[in-house]
Amino acid sequence: MVDRGIVRILVTEEEIKRVVKRLGAEVTAFYGQRDKRDTDLLVIGLLRGSFVFMADLVREIKLPLTVDFMALSSYGDGTTSSGDVKVVMDLDTSVEKRDVLIVEDIVDTGRTFSKVIRMLKNRNPRSLRVCTFLNKPESRVVDVKVDFCGVDIPNEFVVGYGLDYAQEYRNLPYIGVLDQALL
Ligand code: IMP
Ligand code: MG
Repeated sequence: MVDRGIVRILVTEEEIKRVVKRLGAEVTAFYGQRDKRDTDLLVIGLLRGSFVFMADLVREIKLPLTVDFMALSSYGDGTTSSGDVKVVMDLDTSVEKRDVLIVEDIVDTGRTFSKVIRMLKNRNPRSLRVCTFLNKPESRVVDVKVDFCGVDIPNEFVVGYGLDYAQEYRNLPYIGVLDQALL
């Protein structure tokens, strides 16, 4: 059954599970290949959108790790990026000399990732990689290298699995396309 306001399901629950397992395995292989005693993995989730994906992803990473969160805002309640990314809540932990993996729900223009990467690089992590569940390659304005990428999607406004429209729909267990009439 499709929920109210959703015109199409883009990524089903089953597909989400498969993608998250694949990403977890990629991340585990990448950091696991390094000297384990040396790896000090800190997984940083960007709030609020990444909270569902983050919870699933860390359970598929079979390595010791710690987590922290950061809140940024660029969208307000609309669907077009303002281009101005603000830090609403900063990290609680130091990233210095740590292996940092930033986790995002979706990369759209690339502005959010680019801003966070610049900011965290200044704090001298040992390594910095980025992981996103969804990617909209057609909407990119700022070039960012995505190290671990879940699913490429077309340039449509989607909700669910943590992603919102005006703070709603985050609890849908799938990724759906929102009815244009609601936007
Ligand atoms: P960027 O800075 O343009 O890459 O945008 C990233 C942020 O925009 C994401 O973290 C989301 O919060 C939001 N965003 C971009 N596209 C969508 C979408 O289709 N649905 C919901 N949120 C989106
Ligand atoms: Mg977000």
